[in-house]
Amino acid sequence: MFQGPGDDYDRFIGRYGPALGDAMLDYAGVVSGMRVLDVGCGTGALAARAAAAVGGENVAAADPSEPFVETCRRRVPEADVRIAPAESLPFGDDAFDAVLAQLVLPFLTDAPQGAAEMRRVAKPGGVVVACVWDYAGGMRLLRAFWDAAAAIDPESAARDEGRLLRYANPDELRALWAGLDDVTVAALDVEAAYDDFDALWTPFLAGIGPAGSYAASLDAEGQAALRERFRGELGDPVGPFTLTATAWSVRGTK
Ligand SMILES: C[S@@+](CC[C@H](N)C(=O)[O-])C[C@H]1O[C@@H](n2cnc3c(N)ncnc32)[C@H](O)[C@@H]1O
Repeated sequence: MFQGPGDDYDRFIGRYGPALGDAMLDYAGVVSGMRVLDVGCGTGALAARAAAAVGGENVAAADPSEPFVETCRRRVPEADVRIAPAESLPFGDDAFDAVLAQLVLPFLTDAPQGAAEMRRVAKPGGVVVACVWDYAGGMRLLRAFWDAAAAIDPESAARDEGRLLRYANPDELRALWAGLDDVTVAALDVEAAYDDFDALWTPFLAGIGPAGSYAASLDAEGQAALRERFRGELGDPVGPFTLTATAWSVRGTK
């Protein structure tokens, strides 16, 4: 799901990444002088914002997707970016002041192990923060997509991220962070701008993530029907428009 070119991802969900990254850094309390790790960095939206805050030489990042890591390396050349999964981070114990994972937890093979690794590489007193879209509600782009898909093809509900994906609500996030102290959960609200509806729709056809892979699996007729219904779910936008998106974020201290 995440092996396509980084540019395709950036036109898709990556559009929200920099604003969400800034919200994550703020919630984590990241300030100059800290060392920061971006786990599941993807194309590097958060790593780039972290580099702006603390300097690229103080940023490390990891993701198992080679094309995404390539994009991240180009975007943040001074950062130490590795090809690795969250479940086995290639960094020493007690190495970072802030360990962050943006929109990654539902895609881990073993999320408790990933959370344990994030805790391991944080310094004592360091913060460990993750965020996950509110797929069931406030992530407007994906909620409208799956509502449109269900109206045409009820079987698509089996692939709806709002039903399927774990760690997309405060209770599950808190439970996953049980090994940390002072755990809090907050809603982070961001928005993204689109030139027109096609700028929103076309990236779905690249097949990235659960929604993209569903859209790409349809034939031309199915895609045309979904496109029209989806547009209707968003109020038939004409010309430029913006969408809001909410992510649940969990923060704990080691
Ligand atoms: C929705 S993307 C988020 C990327 C990036 N953090 C962002 O905010 O744009 C999910 C990311 O999780 C990564 N991923 C999938 N399995 C993973 C694992 N086991 N460990 C770490 N990252 C993983 C994917 O390669 C992809 O980059």
